[in-house]
This record gives sequence, C-alpha cells and structure tokens, in this order.
Amino acid sequence: MVQKININTIRKYKTEKEKFSVLTAYDCYTAKYIDEAGIDIVLIGDSLAMVALGYENTNSVGVEEMGIFTRAVAKGVKHAMVITDMPFLSYHSSVEDAVKNCGQMIKFGANGVKIEGGSDYIISVIERLTQVGIPVMGHLGFTPQFLNQLGGYKIQGKTEETTKEILCQAKKLEQAGVFSIVLEMVPENSAKYITENLKVPTISCGAGRYCDAQVLVSDDVFGKYPEFKPKFARKYGDMGKLIFDCAKQYNEDVKSGKFPSAEEIF
Ligand code: KIV
Repeated sequence: MVQKININTIRKYKTEKEKFSVLTAYDCYTAKYIDEAGIDIVLIGDSLAMVALGYENTNSVGVEEMGIFTRAVAKGVKHAMVITDMPFLSYHSSVEDAVKNCGQMIKFGANGVKIEGGSDYIISVIERLTQVGIPVMGHLGFTPQFLNQLGGYKIQGKTEETTKEILCQAKKLEQAGVFSIVLEMVPENSAKYITENLKVPTISCGAGRYCDAQVLVSDDVFGKYPEFKPKFARKYGDMGKLIFDCAKQYNEDVKSGKFPSAEEIF
C-alpha cells in the first residue's frame, strides 16, 4: 500500500527542515509520471487557463473546468498530495459558496485546495474550510487573480514595510489553519524573513532559495508552453519540440505510405 503524503508529512518537512517539491499537472498521465518521479504535491493550478486552454490569463477559468482537470489528475496520482487551485470568483461571494465549490473538488479527488489573498474575508473562508475538514494552501505576494488590481505582473514585498505586511497576512493565514503558503514573486531576502517567522512551510514561486519548498508550472519545466517563460522558471526539457518532431514524422509517414506497416494492421 502506497503511503500518501498529507498535511502531517508537510508539517514534518518544515520541522525537520526538509525541502519539498510542488509541480502542476492538468491531466491524468502527466500527473502519474510526476507522481512516480517523487514530487510531493501535485497542484492543479488555475495556470491551466493559459497553458492548457490557451486563455489570456487565469481569471477566465471556471469552477466546472477546474473540476474536470481535478478528476483527471486525482486519477493519476497515488503518492503525492493533490491540491486544486480554486479559480477566480469560486470562493469570493460567500463563505457558503466557498465551502460548496471547494468541497466539490474534494469529492472529485483533491486532498485540499489553494486560495489566494490575505484579507479578513479570506481568513474567514480559511477558518470555515479547515473546520469542515478541507486542508488549505494559502497564496500571498503576487496573486494572479488580483492582476487587474495590482496593475500587472509586479514583484511584491520589495520594501521592509511591504514585507512586514505580507508576513502579517501570512501569520493570520497560519492562525486560520493553512498548512502551507505559496509566496509568488517576492524578493529572496523578503521571502527568507517571512519563512523564518512562520511555523507553516512557505512554497516559493519565484521567491528564491530560502523557502521551504518550490513550485513551478509543469509546462514551463517540460518546455511545452511557448508564450512566455518567467525568469524564475527552469526549463528541463523541450516537449514542444518533441511533439512537433513526432507529429511531423507521423505526417510524413502517412503521406508517404510508411504508416501503417504490415505489423500495424489487422
Ligand atoms: O496556477 C498555478 O499554477 C499556481 C502556481 C504556479 C503557484 O498558482
């Protein structure tokens, strides 16, 4: 029987100063390979709006779509913790709606949810979700669902004052019951200070080397998303080229009559 990673494993990583890894996935078999590679948390990021659905930004994706991808990913994962990123407006209108929409993801196989922000309202949502047994990953710093409000993809926590503000929100999130917090696009020294002052682990998304964990979008890691590569992402492969080469060869083989061969027919 496979031992599944859970919030206790994640808490233990922090106390034992052991780094852990988070990677996004959007379909069953990518999730399976990621899981088999030993990734600790598989995140169905709302980044799927851009990298899987071709939308302009993450705000366009809805709760139904996130549900479809959650079901697929959960089917492929045996060992990692599966977290669904709750999309824009799926937890904002009321605590009741938040519980309903987040609860639906748990029914689809997620082991927890990620929600953005640190306002008093978000704190009340986190409290309620954890009360009903839904583990919550927080998300502070640059929060993509606030893109219009923040006025673009801007680094957050550049000054002592703004770093302290993020830490203050992070402490409230911790108090409300989150099991981890993503820090996105925060300068390394600010993220270090925040990390050292929290009991829950921080997960860096472009927040440097001193966070307790790292997260990246898998399509950036695999070299599949061609539109944009953030400075903090590392490309480990060229899946775009692999797909192109395979499709090109197949096209040529079909048109030249090399496919199918005698072994590939009934
Ligand atoms: O949507 C996403 O993939 C994310 C992570 C990169 C943190 O929010």
